[in-house]
Amino acid sequence: MNKNIVCIGAGYIGGPTMAVIAKMNPDRKVMVVDINAERIAAWNSEDYSLPIYEPGLVDVVKEVRGKNLFFSTDIEGAVKECDIIFVGVNTPTKMFGKGAGRASDLQYWEATAREIKRFAENDKIIVEKSTLPVRTAAAMEAILNDHAEYRFTVLSNPEFLAEGTAIKDLLEPDRVLIGGPQAECGLCAIQEVVDIYAAWVAKEKILTTNVWSAELTKLAANAFLAQRVSSINAIAGLCEATGADVDEVARVVGADKRIGPKFLKAGPGFGGSCFKKDVLNLVYLCESFGLHTAAEYWMGVIKMNDHQQERIVSRLFKEMFNTLANKKVALFGFAFKADTGDTRETPAGTVARLLADEHVRITITDPKALSNAKHDLSDIGDVVYEEDEYRAANGADAIVLMTDWRHYPTLDWQKIYDSMRKPALVFDTRNCLDAEQLRKIGFKVLNVGK
Ligand code: NAD
Ligand code: UGA
Repeated sequence: MNKNIVCIGAGYIGGPTMAVIAKMNPDRKVMVVDINAERIAAWNSEDYSLPIYEPGLVDVVKEVRGKNLFFSTDIEGAVKECDIIFVGVNTPTKMFGKGAGRASDLQYWEATAREIKRFAENDKIIVEKSTLPVRTAAAMEAILNDHAEYRFTVLSNPEFLAEGTAIKDLLEPDRVLIGGPQAECGLCAIQEVVDIYAAWVAKEKILTTNVWSAELTKLAANAFLAQRVSSINAIAGLCEATGADVDEVARVVGADKRIGPKFLKAGPGFGGSCFKKDVLNLVYLCESFGLHTAAEYWMGVIKMNDHQQERIVSRLFKEMFNTLANKKVALFGFAFKADTGDTRETPAGTVARLLADEHVRITITDPKALSNAKHDLSDIGDVVYEEDEYRAANGADAIVLMTDWRHYPTLDWQKIYDSMRKPALVFDTRNCLDAEQLRKIGFKVLNVGK
């Protein structure tokens, strides 16, 4: 009989992942539980105003919610009822004590382990879905199996989906990774989880490893991706100084099959909840094992990223006659990338703060992230939030495009120009607008890496 599944943590990972697992495994009951009652209420809302914006997610939830997918705050009941327990709670960077600013804060993770142990009434398979430092499964097993009546087998099944394309990434993954103990009970547990994914993922794409390899692979994969963004952004600065064009350089570099074309887009630097925290986690792990040169190497990826946002503000400063005080700047886009309302670690947040330090009058517009923006910037006064791009631009000295929302190139830029103070500047940090056309209208245009 197919085993029931619960995921503890109903966030960006738990919600979409379990919705797709439920859709593709109609014979299994799938539950998603969370301590955050407001979030669960949103997942259960009648009008489907879900707590996160993700293209295609509403359709999947409509299809399976109430049939074989259930959202609830009843963690105890769900743990008792389910044999396979995914854990998708948050693992942010620790901001206190040992490892502050680098290590993962595992308090939510440990709390979950203790809850599982308290409520369990039979053997369980625990599946790490969150991104965790290598060897966390050992700590989890130590907590769970200490004087335990039941056997807990801990597996690692890190998630590789990207926000904005979560449903597509889940339905058509490049690979699914399942790590587990190589002893007999571990191999059986791995098979149980393989069976869940085999409902729709081709067998050769389901890769199994030992637990430590799976945990480390997730950090390594994110570090490699973040490194590509920092590498191209490091070239962008040089392009600006020499007259080269970073998009041309990226196109040709990426045409080499050994390098490949993806993840070579220069811009304001990477944001999102994971790249920074996961690279910092890798730095901390390297340091912990005395690998100081490796730690410095990965730290360079973060430093380059921070530098990119500082450079954007410095260039703006220089272009606007070395004074920004009291000028009006409209940020177009606040989400860390298009197709999400997520603003965690968004480059736009850093740029907004640097502009606020210069006493800029800031207006922010974003189709999905305005309420998160308001929350993130609540400590800096006098920021104006506008749904409408034309109102946001009205009277502005400059527009800084921070997120490559698909509709931005199709706005009426002549109308925007007419309503701005002159000289009107557009700093397109995503290189997604038609710079030629903007220049014809009369804008002064800045790009990253050009
Ligand atoms: P999130 O903050 O959106 O969601 C985590 C949820 O866990 C929250 O709703 C929180 O209330 C809940 N939670 C915390 N402690 C709990 C407890 N003791 N019991 C029940 N619920 C609890 O975070 P997220 O973005 O979904 O990320 C979760 C993990 O997945 C992280 O480790 C992250 O690195 C990893 N991950 C995220 C993404 C992504 O795209 N966001 C992709 C891959 C991996
Ligand atoms: C990233 C990874 O792509 C996922 O595989 C991983 O599962 C996830 O982190 C995670 O562990 O959370 P995500 O952060 O959602 O996904 O989004 P990405 O598409 O990777 O973009 C990250 C940041 O890099 C964005 O700010 C984006 O604008 C930026 N980026 C990306 C660039 O500046 N240039 C690029 O070429 C690509």
